[in-house]
Amino acid sequence: MNVDELKKQAAAAALRYVEPGMTLGLGTGSTARWVVLLLGEKLRSGGLERIRAVPTSSQTEELARAQGIELVELGPEGVDLAIDGADEIDPELTLIKGRGGALLREKIVEAAARRFIVIADESKKVDVLGSRAPLPLEVARFGWRRTLALVEGLGAAAALREEGGQPVISDNGNYLIDARFGPIGDPAGLEAELKALPGVFEVGIFHGLASLAIIAGAAGVEEVER
Ligand code: A5P
Repeated sequence: MNVDELKKQAAAAALRYVEPGMTLGLGTGSTARWVVLLLGEKLRSGGLERIRAVPTSSQTEELARAQGIELVELGPEGVDLAIDGADEIDPELTLIKGRGGALLREKIVEAAARRFIVIADESKKVDVLGSRAPLPLEVARFGWRRTLALVEGLGAAAALREEGGQPVISDNGNYLIDARFGPIGDPAGLEAELKALPGVFEVGIFHGLASLAIIAGAAGVEEVER
C-alpha cells in the first residue's frame, strides 16, 4: 500500500473522534491535508454539523476554505480537538514537528486543544527522537547567524532552511533553522534549553501534548494512548 493511502487511513480514523459542534485545530502537511479533505466530504454529505476550525498555516487555511469548512480565529477557550501529523513520534508520544514550517502556529493550537491526536504512517515511529529527522526551530530573522551559532553551541549541526538559494520564510515572517542533534535523550530538557536562547521563537519538540497517536501501517491502523 502506498504511503499516501496510509496517511489517508490514519486521517479517516481520527475523524471518528470529531463530534458535532466541535471547534477543531487543523494541522499542516501531507497527512493533515487528508483530515481537511475528508472533513470537507463529511460536512458536505451531512455526516457532521456545526464544525468550526482553526487552521495552523496559510496552506491549511486555503485548503479548508476550498472545502467549505468554517474557519475561526483561536479564542481564549482554545479548541476541542486538534489533529495533525508529525515528523517523528516516540513511544511517549513526544513529537518532532515542523518540516512544513508551521511549528509555531501548530504548537499554539495543539497546546490549546483539550485533546490532540497525532496521525501518521508507520515510517514516523521512532524509539528515540532525532534518530532521523532534523529538529526545526522558528527564529527571528534579525541576528539569525548568532542564533544559529547558539544552537550549534548546544551540540547540533544546524542550517538555515533555504529553497532555491533563498531563506524560507514562515507564515509569521520568521526564518527556520534545522538542527541535527542526533538521538535526543531528554526532549523536554532540550526544548527548554533551546527556547531560552534569544531569537528562538519556537522549537519543533512537542512534549506532553499528544494524547493519542493513530498510526497506519501495512498491518492495519494502530491507536496508541499516552
Ligand atoms: C508542519 O510544519 C509539520 O509539523 C507537519 O505536521 C509534519 O512535518 C508532518 O508532515 P507530513 O504529514 O507531510 O509528513
